[in-house]
Amino acid sequence: RSDEEQQLRKLYEQSQNLYHHILVNTQLGQKALKYLHQRGMTDEMIATFGIGYAPEKTDLLTLFFKDKQVAPALLEKSGLLTSTQNNTLIDRFVDRVMFPIRDQGGQTIAFSGRVLSKDPNKPKYLNSPETSLFNKRKILFNFDLAKAEIRKNSGVLLFEGFMDVIAAYQAGVKNGVASMGTSLTDEQLYLLQRVTNHLVICYDGDDPGQKATNRAVDMLMPNRRLDIGVVVLPDAQDPDEFIKSHSPEAFRKLLTDGEQTSVRFKLDYLRRDVNLNNDKFKVDYLNQALQLLQSAATPSEQSLYMQHLATELGIDLAAIKTQFEQLPSRR
Ligand code: GTP
Ligand code: MN
Ligand code: MN
Ligand code: MN
Ligand code: MN
Repeated sequence: RSDEEQQLRKLYEQSQNLYHHILVNTQLGQKALKYLHQRGMTDEMIATFGIGYAPEKTDLLTLFFKDKQVAPALLEKSGLLTSTQNNTLIDRFVDRVMFPIRDQGGQTIAFSGRVLSKDPNKPKYLNSPETSLFNKRKILFNFDLAKAEIRKNSGVLLFEGFMDVIAAYQAGVKNGVASMGTSLTDEQLYLLQRVTNHLVICYDGDDPGQKATNRAVDMLMPNRRLDIGVVVLPDAQDPDEFIKSHSPEAFRKLLTDGEQTSVRFKLDYLRRDVNLNNDKFKVDYLNQALQLLQSAATPSEQSLYMQHLATELGIDLAAIKTQFEQLPSRR
């Protein structure tokens, strides 16, 4: 590792300790601590994930690093500070709850900071910029802690958000990771495939989350080495909200009993906006569903879901099978 990389790692470690200290031990951190407690996060999770608070000061890190002999150029490179129009360095993270983002070795290499209250002028989450340490395409939040659990648990749970990973962890579900607010990259998938062949998508139950699930399924389904499962959260909730409004037990039960095949998810997703009282829509839906079965399903799934379609649509199973067999071959 280069000198610069070592120095950046040290800056991140020191900043993380500082933000965490401010959150748990100081008056400045009180409102953020109260915010996290109100969201149901325990002190144990705050410690495990090293969560912190960047107070409402723009010179916190400048003052903190002043007597530590850190070169301003390095501070700027770290992305922890940012330079203003008149070339002074100020804190990038101000008045935000700080989620450390760790590499596979457990060292903090970036942060994501969340606002404490809604403000249309500020992004809800602000991430560190990419640096020589932090390439967000290659990092999965919590992969370092989850890795052993993923192997043991025979699978990985893919969440949308940091709070979902942490809430699941607190509920005893420790094999969860999250990509950094974007769709899963090839690099992230590669990391996961080294430890498991079972991936369960557990995104938010709202429209954007379901849309993202559909995209992820499309991307992952052609991968024959991966067994993909999908868990759909009810009532447009995200995992964190579900755990809070139900219970940790209910969440664990949903994960074990509610895991669907990717084909079943696609069928349900296709049908979402279809009015089955309209024959035209019904026929179009059946066509699309059969094409999906042809390209993505195993023979036993094909049989299972054709029966399902027959019942759902009130169409004779034999007719559906004949139509399926008459589809132009796609393999
Ligand atoms: P909470 O409101 O704290 O529960 O967060 P959430 O995880 O439920 O947020 P949401 O479902 O809106 O977004 C999912 C994930 O997308 C977050 O965890 C972030 O990683 C990312 N994200 C959300 N909003 C922003 C944003 O404004 N900027 C960036 N860079 N990422 C965001
Ligand atoms: Mn979401
Ligand atoms: Mn499965
Ligand atoms: Mn969410
Ligand atoms: Mn949430």
